Amino acid sequence: MSKIIIANWKMYLSPDQAILSASDLEKIIKGTSGDKEIIICPSFLSMKDVMKALQNTHVQFGAQDVFWEDRGAYTGEVSPLDLKSLKCRYVIIGHSERRKNFTEDNTMIHNKAKSCLKNGLIPVICIGEDAEQRRLNQRDYVLIQQLHEILQGIEMTINDRVIIAYEPVWAISAGGGINATPDEVRYAHQVIRHVLIDIYDQKIVDNCFRIIYGGSVDADNVQMYSEIDGVSGFLVGGASIKPLVFARLIESA
Ligand code: PGA
Repeated sequence: MSKIIIANWKMYLSPDQAILSASDLEKIIKGTSGDKEIIICPSFLSMKDVMKALQNTHVQFGAQDVFWEDRGAYTGEVSPLDLKSLKCRYVIIGHSERRKNFTEDNTMIHNKAKSCLKNGLIPVICIGEDAEQRRLNQRDYVLIQQLHEILQGIEMTINDRVIIAYEPVWAISAGGGINATPDEVRYAHQVIRHVLIDIYDQKIVDNCFRIIYGGSVDADNVQMYSEIDGVSGFLVGGASIKPLVFARLIESA
């Protein structure tokens, strides 16, 4: 199965810079083999322009967040219906930066995941331990708890798709930037898979879930992580906003 590479542009680029990056990327990507699934997640404000700049490529699009209700008095929020009508298929939810800055918790992430599936969007659910939890040897416990609280009660059918992104907070460039070892990444992916099999039928896990890695993934280390069994792709922050670096990353993955 082809690797999935999700670019999380966070709030790094202004709308003008996002258009420039997307146009540069378009020129580079046009000449590539297209054997990877590439998903760009720009800011909401840049979304339409970035989509336009990349319309002649195989790139797909995602949002960096979504609200769980379809419509209503929810100031500042973005509806899943509107993402869907834009043809934005993926949504990053539960990113550690949102958990930290907006006290987003597993119940809210559960609601968002449920709403995504109801609306035919593919949630990219971020989980992972922070530095303190790592110091206290709580990684497995954190992963098990996050997955159970987020997924419990969400019924999946064979056509649903969910991406779980293992993103240890201490490895994210803005959250510590320590490179996880291949053994740590392999082990965490195994734990996640075991927990998924605990919650769902193996057939659902095999068909519907993909587990990807995120945390300071760049053009130089992506090959090492690509060789790990069970890693289906990457969620990339900092290295995804520079078109040349990102193109090199895609080639090496
Ligand atoms: P990073 O970010 O690649 O800059 O570490 C990843 C993420 O936060 O999703």
